[in-house]
Amino acid sequence: MPTESAPRPVTVAVLGGGTVGTQVARLLTDRDTDLHIRMGTSLKLTKVAVRDLTKARDIDPQYLSDDAMAVATSGADIVVELIGGIEPAKSLIMAAIKAGSSVVTANKALLASDGASLYAAAEAEGVDIFFEASVAGAIPIVRVLQESLSGDHVTKIMGIVNGTTNYILTKMEEDGASFADALTEAQALGYAEADPTADVEGHDAASKAAILAELAFHTHVTREDVFCEGISNVSIEDIRAAKNMGCVIKLLAIAERMPDDSGVIVRVHPTMVPQEHPLASVRDAFNAVFVETEAAGELMFYGRGAGGAPTASAVLGDVVVAARNRLTGSTGWGESADVQYPVLPISEASTCYYVNLDVADRPGALASIAQAFADAGVSIQVVRQDGHGEGAGLIVRTHRASDGALQDTVNRLRKLSTVKAVVGVMRVEGEAGA
Ligand code: NAP
Ligand code: HSE
Repeated sequence: MPTESAPRPVTVAVLGGGTVGTQVARLLTDRDTDLHIRMGTSLKLTKVAVRDLTKARDIDPQYLSDDAMAVATSGADIVVELIGGIEPAKSLIMAAIKAGSSVVTANKALLASDGASLYAAAEAEGVDIFFEASVAGAIPIVRVLQESLSGDHVTKIMGIVNGTTNYILTKMEEDGASFADALTEAQALGYAEADPTADVEGHDAASKAAILAELAFHTHVTREDVFCEGISNVSIEDIRAAKNMGCVIKLLAIAERMPDDSGVIVRVHPTMVPQEHPLASVRDAFNAVFVETEAAGELMFYGRGAGGAPTASAVLGDVVVAARNRLTGSTGWGESADVQYPVLPISEASTCYYVNLDVADRPGALASIAQAFADAGVSIQVVRQDGHGEGAGLIVRTHRASDGALQDTVNRLRKLSTVKAVVGVMRVEGEAGA
């Protein structure tokens, strides 16, 4: 009788040996026994490509190479791309796919810029491309949208998907830390991108929002489709005003389908969230993704969104699935951009707003301001006034209105002699019944 032989080891080559790559190499070697039991065979690390061989790092030197293209095209079963950025990452991934390797990547910037070409190349070659770690670090949200919720209809996603900015906002709010000090700490902890502007100005979150929206709404969405505003203009005054209104400020990535199915809107911006909303309690570098669907209702996924080991956990999960597929000669879920909703501009988004005004404290001032809101078709929910004498601070919270109408209101307010300055404007999300 023929005896069944043990499956061959699955080979894994890693491109990048930085914050995440180092942890992936460590897990691949330390967890070999567990992975063997789970898969019935070993995952064998072959090489780790880096830029600078002389740099001190926690990777056994026998694995290191400074020839990334040779590593990418070495014919490993799985190539893990952890270099980041557009080039040379894209050429390396394309070359790995052409060489017949499945690919695992955490590169949201590349996927949000040209994921479609990578997915098409993988499909043409009959290999997998997986990217769980590209959104929200350790949180398994990509597979949830691709598989678990594939029988449901997602209506809206609101996510805290950037650890660095959530860390900064938490430190500013809770410890009164300065923006610069909090950013330096986030960089030291390995949360920030190589260029932290990508975190602070919302570009990293916008790339993740594009990936989430594409998966949720089966529609091509790229980084260019995402409205993006970062946290560099969030002031201590905004944080204080939010607290006074029972809110916290979070950088949210929001992807929503219009109620009449006319399209989807994808946006990233600082947002006031009521303290009782589940997203308000997500602190430090933690991430959370709040998903609303037609059948399941509300779901929230929470966990570590940045850092070497948490991100490596998500990478390893993809590696194991890709390895199983190699052994069985199958592939997993590919791209599902089969609906193609139009992606609408932010002006069509509907939300509540907080408007902070510096006003003249004199008879009729409030009436003129209320009229500006009314003329733009924006309904006021709450008004609070502080200060007496020459000047006063006026905080207005509106009912739901379109972004376009709010912009019109702000333009009208700026022309009033009773308004000395529009000090702050921020969108408010997550209010019950708003
Ligand atoms: P990183 O610490 O900057 O590491 C990048 C690595 O790539 C370094 O080892 C670098 O080599 C290597 N590299 C750069 N250019 C190269 C080239 N031309 N050829 C060969 N190697 C090259 O980055 P990271 O934080 O690990 O992030 C990696 C990826 O994971 C990015 O796409 C990032 O967005 C994503 N990600 C990161 C996190 C996180 O928390 N850090 C979380 C989720 C996703 P040297 O070491 O020699 O310079
Ligand atoms: N720089 C990113 C963050 C890493 O701060 O969330 C995780 O993608």
